[in-house]
Amino acid sequence: MSFFKDIKGQVRNKSIRQLVANFRNEYLSKGISENELDDDPIDQFEKWFNESVKNKIPEPNIMNLSTVSNDCKPSGRIVLLKGFDENGFVFYTNYDSRKGSELAENKYAALTFLWHELYRQVRIEGTVQKISAEESDKYFHSRPRGSQLSAVASAQSRIIPDRDFLEKKVTELEKEFQDRQIPRPDNWGGFCLSPASIEFWQGRANRLHDRIQYILNEKNIWIRQRLAP
Ligand SMILES: Cc1cc2nc3c(=O)[nH]c(=O)nc-3n(C[C@H](O)[C@H](O)[C@H](O)COP(=O)(O)O)c2cc1C
Repeated sequence: MSFFKDIKGQVRNKSIRQLVANFRNEYLSKGISENELDDDPIDQFEKWFNESVKNKIPEPNIMNLSTVSNDCKPSGRIVLLKGFDENGFVFYTNYDSRKGSELAENKYAALTFLWHELYRQVRIEGTVQKISAEESDKYFHSRPRGSQLSAVASAQSRIIPDRDFLEKKVTELEKEFQDRQIPRPDNWGGFCLSPASIEFWQGRANRLHDRIQYILNEKNIWIRQRLAP
């Protein structure tokens, strides 16, 4: 290992920078064939999700959410999948956050799951809409009290003076809501992404991977196609 000081006097690990390109893993799996996949991609997603759980992948519900602002600037961040069915994929957040504002301006969004231990990726694209206030209430009140308080205290994505500011706010809220239910803030709740396309990616040797994409056609029927890796 060789270390050096950069122009600002910070110690840098030179060798790691040089090593980045050397990280290389073979994705050895038996792959996926069209006929072994379910006709319905939501059912197929459920199968893969289940296999991730069985294979003890930690937090298989972690996904990247990509949004695009109305001036066409994309952004991505991790959120947690909290439910899925034939209507789509549900996550919870602050509606006034950056992602919330972008989704209000542009309903098109994408979700990406990485289940690396199984050499799998799932990409989902579609449009989002807010779920009902009743559903958001139900989920909000199922969360640990500490998480509820944090959701109320945090004006997500806004600049705050320091950590203390946030912690003081939580302490105040603890007092305010002592012995009573914390109401769900109007600006906190769920979104559901209804999919228009879902792609299942399975890593294979020599980077010759399998990609099967489902697209919803104009008759609302899922069409399956294989994409080059
Ligand atoms: C493992 C993990 C799980 C997360 N889950 C959520 C979530 O479910 N909802 C959420 O709003 N933010 C979640 N976050 C935080 C987001 O990544 C992000 O920092 C935050 O939502 C603000 O994003 P925005 O400014 O683009 O709106 C999670 C982050 C990580 C690393």
